[in-house]
Amino acid sequence: MAKHNVDSKYLDPDYEPVVNHSGNKVFDDVLNARVQRRTLMKGGVGAALASIMGFGLAGCGSDSSSVIASASAGSDPDGDNVSKTALGFDAVAVSTANNVVVPAGYSAKAFLPWGTPITGSYPEFRADASNSGAEQEQQVGMHHDGMHFFPIDFKAGGNRSDEGLLVMNHEYINQKALHPEGPTYNQSGMRPADEVRKEIAAHGVSVVHIKQDSAGTWDIVFESPFNRRVTGNTEMDIRGPVRGYQKLSTRFSPNGTQTRGTLNNCSMGPTPWGTYLAAEENWHGYFANGSQTQPREQTRHGVGNATRYDWEQADSGEDQYIRFNITPAAESAKDDYRNEANTFGYMVEIDPFTPESKPQKRTALGRFGHEGVIFAPVEEGKPVVCYSGDDSRFEYIYKFVSSRPYYAATASGYLLDEGTLYVARFNEDGSGDWLALSLDNLDFVARVQAAQGSSVGAVLFEGFENQADVLLNTRLAADIAGATPMDRPEWGAVDPNTGEVYFTLTNNSQRTEEQVNAANPNAENRTGHIIRWSEANKDFAAAEFQWDIFLFAGEQGTETIVDGKVVVSLTDDNIFNSPDGLWFDYNGRLWIQTDGSDAAPYQNNMMLAASPATRDIRRFFVGPQGCEVTGVVTTPDVKSMFVNIQHPARDWPFGTEGDHPRDATVIITRDDNGVIGA
Ligand code: FEO
Ligand code: CA
Ligand code: CA
Repeated sequence: MAKHNVDSKYLDPDYEPVVNHSGNKVFDDVLNARVQRRTLMKGGVGAALASIMGFGLAGCGSDSSSVIASASAGSDPDGDNVSKTALGFDAVAVSTANNVVVPAGYSAKAFLPWGTPITGSYPEFRADASNSGAEQEQQVGMHHDGMHFFPIDFKAGGNRSDEGLLVMNHEYINQKALHPEGPTYNQSGMRPADEVRKEIAAHGVSVVHIKQDSAGTWDIVFESPFNRRVTGNTEMDIRGPVRGYQKLSTRFSPNGTQTRGTLNNCSMGPTPWGTYLAAEENWHGYFANGSQTQPREQTRHGVGNATRYDWEQADSGEDQYIRFNITPAAESAKDDYRNEANTFGYMVEIDPFTPESKPQKRTALGRFGHEGVIFAPVEEGKPVVCYSGDDSRFEYIYKFVSSRPYYAATASGYLLDEGTLYVARFNEDGSGDWLALSLDNLDFVARVQAAQGSSVGAVLFEGFENQADVLLNTRLAADIAGATPMDRPEWGAVDPNTGEVYFTLTNNSQRTEEQVNAANPNAENRTGHIIRWSEANKDFAAAEFQWDIFLFAGEQGTETIVDGKVVVSLTDDNIFNSPDGLWFDYNGRLWIQTDGSDAAPYQNNMMLAASPATRDIRRFFVGPQGCEVTGVVTTPDVKSMFVNIQHPARDWPFGTEGDHPRDATVIITRDDNGVIGA
């Protein structure tokens, strides 16, 4: 059956329409200064690449003990972080093999592929992909992404590394691989409801209780009460300021307090109290609005008039499927699903240790294309702080600061329901400001009033009726606040040794020369970079920060230059492009995963390790053909590492029949049982 007559790009799950038309040009007046800092460098394949300058933060920070204060190699004043985070393995070469590559002395083993039975009646995976929707609801989902390992004794204050709950996201699906013959349609263009059920069940989150045997081999703990699937159809509560807002009213939840499912869960963030926040990233593609005009809470996200997977065309016409058609159909929002998409775009809290608990959508953290979330270390009596990137071209980086203080004895998700959402402005001089998106912030209110009645990007701005409206339209609020449009913010990570916050900016081929700014200094940025900052006075709740660029990705010879000095020049050992996954392990080594071009010279996507103290960076892992490498965590002792392989191009390494490649987790260990990366 022919697909809709839609832009073919729309069928690409990675296609993110550019919907930030706000034209924020915070740095126009400093363009010349920036141009003077640029140099040219040799591109390896004929093209002269524009380079690329970082700022050293020397002299910017008030605290000279900060490692970021001096970016040159080995600058750590006492050398502690240099030795703690030194890399002790030999780099692996780029690879085109349909297998994983790890350094000498390491081993890798695939685990928990799509379809692995983990709960209920533990239905066996069928290699021809003929499992039903009900069976998929009891099996590991597809397209593994962000992941965390919770020690099984976490709630008792423990740190066990031999048993835990591995919780992972399933970002999206390959319809062709999911069914024996791909997606099908009947003569009326409708889809068999069970196919749709299976597709929705292959999304969401898996919670898997795993344990090492005496030989050190990991396996599922069968019949564990913790084993669980959360899917695109699991009932959830809406929490925080947007709960009960009339623009969330649906036939399922007329009072706007509940919804069904979480979708397009890219990365995640473990909370300090042992829960898991799954991010809703490219949720816009699941909804269709056939109206001539759409409300701003849809246009600013790129909701179209056709859905990616045609779930609304399920032939049963059941409520859980037709809700993806958000065209107004009844007199009142209480009687249709015009507001269904307003219940997506959040961070969703799942408590893996309480299997019967209902997931909670935490709206105070904003509604946008959440890539993930990273929590700052907590301190008794201080607010909880977390960071989240909006992965679309020209979108923003956000920070949430809780109103209520953290106390370990009582901490839970309620801390995420009241607080202030800020958006980042990266100033040309290496300083930065957190702009509060709050109707209690007089500066913000003044800008809102000034913008009223004018066009903000493509939207005629008519104000915000309350804070719920601000949060529902977080992107629009950030436009008005004057945030810095970034090159697709993906994962964030906080250095456990220094408190610096790192974010990957994966790429942005559409940035023009006129649109560059200091934090995103490359037009047609095809290879990406990693930015980092230190909060003022090392206070995560601070309103100001100091930033620099940690590293520019690219081919051999790509230089990161700080204060006129080349601090990194990439070589065969560490060329990469499109940094995406990012994680500090418990010793402070930085792990960088890629989701980019898998052509020469980079070849298959990969994972590298970096020492933040020295900017030493080495390729540690290469994935099989066609995959993206995403999701990384270790056990607390950093001796077992879990890495996800998403959308491998073909069968790897499982014996599926036909064209049904399986996403999987890879467990990496050191043959001498040592610390990974050391
Ligand atoms: Fe799902 Fe932004 O990667
Ligand atoms: Ca990602
Ligand atoms: Ca990506």
